[in-house]
Amino acid sequence: MLEGKNVNLRIMEKEDLPVLREWDNNPEFMGRFEPLRQETRTDLERTCDNLKDAQRFFVEKKDGAKIGYIAHFLAAGEIELGYFIVPTERRKGYASEAIKILADYLFLSKHIVRIQAKADLENLASWKALEKAGFTREGILRKTYYCWGEHRDDCIYSILREEWKEPKVLA
Ligand SMILES: CC(C)(COP(=O)(O)OP(=O)(O)OC[C@H]1O[C@@H](n2cnc3c(N)ncnc32)[C@H](O)[C@@H]1OP(=O)(O)O)[C@@H](O)C(=O)NCCC(=O)NCCS
Repeated sequence: MLEGKNVNLRIMEKEDLPVLREWDNNPEFMGRFEPLRQETRTDLERTCDNLKDAQRFFVEKKDGAKIGYIAHFLAAGEIELGYFIVPTERRKGYASEAIKILADYLFLSKHIVRIQAKADLENLASWKALEKAGFTREGILRKTYYCWGEHRDDCIYSILREEWKEPKVLA
């Protein structure tokens, strides 16, 4: 387990897929900036098996309550992050802490120079969480994904090893 100040990250196992399916199939949890989808357990298992160099972690409060998840995966050769917090636990700093923990873990465990994340141009909560975790906006990807009936713009963010410098949460 990766321990933070207010949240911990616990690696997900295959047995945890039902929890993930409940969340992924819930449009309120996924929000307006994530493509609407409904997945069976088989779909999820297939996606998990096909993801390259990916890991998913529960975001847990200190009492063990599961309040969301954060993942890293390879997107066109780049290490990319994605994260979700249940609606009742948002705006308490949990996503930004989870991002800091995962960035620490990735820079401490992999010989990489950069981590990236994408956030919809209107997803203020997501890009503020990234900026709080030390990520810098690089630019805008125009009409790069299809979501809730629209072709939408994403902001691309990254943090370089030399900007990260040292662990922010993991000792
Ligand atoms: C994006 C998301 C993970 C942020 O989680 P969170 O735990 O609320 O984020 P934090 O509490 O760390 O907030 C980060 C900053 O954004 C601000 N913020 C959060 N929600 C906001 C909102 N709806 N509007 C404006 N600012 C918001 C917070 O106040 C905080 O800034 P501050 O410290 O200056 O106040 C959460 O809103 C979510 O799960 N959304 C749906 C899924 C999603 O869009 N995921 C990202 C796509 S990969």
